[in-house]
Amino acid sequence: MKIKAAVLRVAGLKGPYRDTKPLSIETVDLDRPEREEVLIKIAAAGLCHSDLVAIDGERPKPMPIVLGHETVGVVSEVGPGVTAFEEGDYVIPSFVASCGKCEMCRIGRPGLCVAASDANAKGTLMSGGQRLHKNGARLYHHSGVSAFAEFAVVSEHSLVKIDHNIPAQHAALFGCAVMTGAGAVINTSGIKAGESVAVIGAGGVGLSAVMAAAAAGSSQVLAIDINDEKLHAAKNFGATHVFNATDPDMLSKVKAVTGGGVHIAIESAGVPQALELAFEVTRIGGCTVAAGLPNPEKKINISHFLLGAQERTLKGSYMGSCIPSRDIPKLLNMYRQGNLAVDKLASDIIGFDDLNEAFDLMGKGGALRNVLVP
Ligand SMILES: NC(=O)c1ccc[n+]([C@@H]2O[C@H](COP(=O)([O-])OP(=O)(O)OC[C@H]3O[C@@H](n4cnc5c(N)ncnc54)[C@H](O)[C@@H]3O)[C@@H](O)[C@H]2O)c1
Ligand SMILES: [Zn+2]
Ligand SMILES: [Zn+2]
Repeated sequence: MKIKAAVLRVAGLKGPYRDTKPLSIETVDLDRPEREEVLIKIAAAGLCHSDLVAIDGERPKPMPIVLGHETVGVVSEVGPGVTAFEEGDYVIPSFVASCGKCEMCRIGRPGLCVAASDANAKGTLMSGGQRLHKNGARLYHHSGVSAFAEFAVVSEHSLVKIDHNIPAQHAALFGCAVMTGAGAVINTSGIKAGESVAVIGAGGVGLSAVMAAAAAGSSQVLAIDINDEKLHAAKNFGATHVFNATDPDMLSKVKAVTGGGVHIAIESAGVPQALELAFEVTRIGGCTVAAGLPNPEKKINISHFLLGAQERTLKGSYMGSCIPSRDIPKLLNMYRQGNLAVDKLASDIIGFDDLNEAFDLMGKGGALRNVLVP
């Protein structure tokens, strides 16, 4: 079938993207779903920093590629062998499918599925196939999703069925920002009620972490960013204190207000300095969680001594250490009960023609979470 999609053909173009247009809006071909695959009509797709790093070249992807990996859609056709989904189902794909057979899937860590991670790196679906093409040339899939499009073919093993009554512009965000940010707090950090939390980088992922920390009964929730607008916004999501990371006295202010540092720090900025800062703001015995994803060559500089002598921990968090079939319904329930204000996080609804400019805004640290409605 012919569909409209946003294709990235060249990474690393100079901005403003409004003028250079790295994402070209094209009519491309999408094949029908094959075995254990599902065709979905995209209802909404959030813009994530992990799309921006593909555009600016920070994290190189196979090209050309159809970006977008945070979405919700309606099943319009199922491929052979699919029994768990049918036409009309409202579904959220996770950006890592789960083979159910590899060691990581078997121990309950599907975000690290070996087969899906391998496919994501290659820009294929988990089957190894590519369903997107144009004029005979294959286009790559972004994280098995490719949601900046009218339709997508995805593995059925990435899908979670949800209730129809959740507005698409909110539901989409559970596919990445909410799973990642809330999951980093609830799953990866192992938070206990009464602990203090700092979130470094208050974008879509970070504000989800702020909301989850508040919902989990944190004593204090600190938001730290370099952008004052984000800090202002963070207060509406449950932050009790906000700090600008560029303030030279920030560290001593954080130590003073928390009595020596926070129990848990979540890094969600995607730059090494932010992870170093996250480590520095934790207290003795504290836990630092890295959720940001910069270029794979980037390194951090932290105190080896403090890690050992103060029994601090440093953990990575991918997809919020979530099991999507367990955690998406749980997080949606928190949203329904008013404990995750994802409605406030979804800022503007945009169309295909606004995509490039929206990534200019994200590059400047502006906008909370723009959502494409194709
Ligand atoms: N681990 C995962 O599974 C996963 C999933 C999604 C996104 N990510 C990554 O998480 C990060 C955040 O994604 P997002 O979509 O929320 O991004 P975003 O662009 O919406 O937000 C990033 C925020 O970090 C702030 N920031 C930048 N430099 C900073 C610094 N030095 N100190 C403090 N704050 C700083 C920005 O001002 C911005 O508010 C990215 O690296 C993204 O690739 C990881
Ligand atoms: Zn994402
Ligand atoms: Zn697996």
